[in-house]
Amino acid sequence: MSEVKLYSGEKLPLEMHKVRVVQKLNLLPVEARQKAMAEAGNNTFLLRNEDVYLDMLTDSGVNAMSDQAVASMMVADDSYAGSATYYRLEKKVCELFGTSYFLPAHQGRACESILASSFVKPGDVVPMNFHFTTAKAHITRVGGRVEELVSDAGLEPESDLPFKGNIDLDKLRECITRNGKENIPFVRLEAGTNLIGGQPFSLENMTATAKLAHDNGIMVVLDASLLQDNLHFIKVREAACKNMSIREITRAVCANADIIYFSARKLGFARGGGMAMNDRAYYEKMKDFIPLFEGFLTYGGMSVREMEAMTVGLEETMDESVISQGPQFIEFMVAELQKRGVPVVTPAGGLGCHINARKFLSHVDDHAYPAAALASALYIASGVRGMERGTLSEQREPDGTEPIASMELLRLALPRRVFTMSQVLYAVDRISWLYENRHLIGGLNFVEEPATLRFFFGRLEPIGDWQEQLVAKFRKDLGESL
Ligand code: F0G
Repeated sequence: MSEVKLYSGEKLPLEMHKVRVVQKLNLLPVEARQKAMAEAGNNTFLLRNEDVYLDMLTDSGVNAMSDQAVASMMVADDSYAGSATYYRLEKKVCELFGTSYFLPAHQGRACESILASSFVKPGDVVPMNFHFTTAKAHITRVGGRVEELVSDAGLEPESDLPFKGNIDLDKLRECITRNGKENIPFVRLEAGTNLIGGQPFSLENMTATAKLAHDNGIMVVLDASLLQDNLHFIKVREAACKNMSIREITRAVCANADIIYFSARKLGFARGGGMAMNDRAYYEKMKDFIPLFEGFLTYGGMSVREMEAMTVGLEETMDESVISQGPQFIEFMVAELQKRGVPVVTPAGGLGCHINARKFLSHVDDHAYPAAALASALYIASGVRGMERGTLSEQREPDGTEPIASMELLRLALPRRVFTMSQVLYAVDRISWLYENRHLIGGLNFVEEPATLRFFFGRLEPIGDWQEQLVAKFRKDLGESL
């Protein structure tokens, strides 16, 4: 896109691909959407996809694949042990990341489970820029805890800071002194920091963080699940990297990490995951968990077809015209919402567009889950399925108190190369209608609250009859429209 200038002067993300396979979608009437949302316990995870028009729940495992990736699935070498497909994947990962060893796993959280079991002991602390739900759950599962050291400015929903995922080095220094380096098994750095709005770290900050950790003898673990967006942002926002290729930036980022793990449901346009490293001792320490929990060392729980497609997808990730599509669509959506006054996280990050639900629904109490209420309201108003990323996604403290999330966001993921511009504009239109009618939206209460990862299966009910009122207003304003 950067190379195409429109005569009109408008800024329009331009797709460097064309659509060759499509999936039919349904858009239910608003009354049916209200019923489906009630049946799903006001939890968008519990909706049936056939009742969803635009599935913006996540980018995980639902990115569009290229013709080359799909075609490669047909030449995958079907074998339990020693598959040629596996060796092609291992070679590609090691070539791109500059590592010597690879361990396959069925998805990202499997890597997190193995990392926690291998390195974290009760009482340990894992500093990180920001937690991700499954990463934190696995660290606490083995008796550790996390400290979030992202710079304070990274938590301001609206800002113009280019790298809101950066670690605050003073906080890291203080954390090491206070906890003692012997109690810190590793520092975890998350690329494209998910829960704060898909915000990147800079190569400069990552390099300084790694130096500080290594000076203290502490290992650095990179969660590269959202690396592709972060690579794009380093290329376009970090002056010192402007002339580096994506391949060079990838190598430079990865050179700072001792272990790199990723969810290939995000990175590589496929489904799967794995861990890469240079130190044989780390490889040996984790290796035995693979056949125990994942699968034999040459597939780790993945199908050979996915591994073959991932090998192609990882190579495509080195193409700036491929990886810029996601961030550019997100930037467009964020700008359109801003024009209409809707509070969104800025600057636009990766993964999706993030609405600041705490500001959107400032009249809804944090304990009544504004972001979950907004997710429910948006589905009713539009058939668009988003994901709550706020207090509901937090875990309760051991004493039962509910921590309030530092950010209360409704995430609208834009899986890569999946939606069209008119679909994005439809979502923008319905969100701005909701914003005009935000006073009608109320909170939610739990009726079933699971003890772990409660956001996946928890069921909630609306406080009062706000959903009936919302449907009535929809009919009044939009007539017979779907
Ligand atoms: N790390 C990050 C940064 C993630 O975003 C995810 C998943 C994982 C690890 C775990 O990977 O799903 O393959 O087990 N994020 C998905 C999401 C679930 O919707 O954001 P996984």
